[in-house]
Amino acid sequence: MSDFLSAYSIQSWLESCPQGYLEGTEFGHRPGEEEVPLLLDNEVLREDAIRTTVQLIVGERCALAASSGLINAAPDEGSKRFLATQTLDEARHVEIFTRRLLDLGVRKGELETVIDAYANPNLVKFASILLEKVDAKDFIAGVVGQNIVLEGMAFSVFEMMHAMNQEVNPKFAHTLAGTIADERRHVGFGENRIGALIKAHPEKKAEVERMQRDMSYFMLATFADAFRQTRVLDEMNRIGQPRAHSAYQGVDLGELSTDEMEQLLADTVLKEFKTRLGRIGIEYQSPVRV
Ligand SMILES: [Fe+2]
Ligand SMILES: [Fe+2]
Repeated sequence: MSDFLSAYSIQSWLESCPQGYLEGTEFGHRPGEEEVPLLLDNEVLREDAIRTTVQLIVGERCALAASSGLINAAPDEGSKRFLATQTLDEARHVEIFTRRLLDLGVRKGELETVIDAYANPNLVKFASILLEKVDAKDFIAGVVGQNIVLEGMAFSVFEMMHAMNQEVNPKFAHTLAGTIADERRHVGFGENRIGALIKAHPEKKAEVERMQRDMSYFMLATFADAFRQTRVLDEMNRIGQPRAHSAYQGVDLGELSTDEMEQLLADTVLKEFKTRLGRIGIEYQSPVRV
């Protein structure tokens, strides 16, 4: 337990995060960095960037509600303190992605209207399954739902977006890089903390597996919605803007169709789920594919 306590302590969070990779950043990116003019000037591309950013805000608001809600459900003091650091991480993620909406030209007064209008209903459903467990103060299901399922998904999505933006949008790529580093810590906590608890409470397994299956269903439905529209690629073709070539999972994303990208992301996330759930003694349950 002492290793666990020091790896996930507030002290190590301070040293690695605010005094480490976030030092000198401004809303997650380097001071002075701006969105690329193409995104701001082209209405189709700007709307798509707004839509994508809204999904990140929906996910991060869920993580903020879950990590703060789980503090009072945690059975030990070390977990409570870790979740307090995670709460601040998630609040920061909500803030930096909300800030990006403003950078993309959304006015302050219309933030909530825009978020409501673009929030994917399948992602909202995904979040509500997790938040039900948190509201019931179910620590085991809550941590699996948050630190393995939600953050496992976020981690892979952010990595794919990071690959796509690294060359073409350094500001957004830098914002994502700090978030990815945070998510790596959160996923690590989930795996380290929950394995022993699942062992001690085998009666919880079936319920946790059902939650993971239901969340996976709505996650895949969200991916399908996100990739089954080709407006962005059509628009880039129309204006003669070449696609960025970037490596993700050993493949050049710039060569893939949207269907292939959806498949690659879904396969990557599900493979991660299987590995991580296996490590904590939970058997991955396949949802009906959408
Ligand atoms: Fe987050
Ligand atoms: Fe997180």
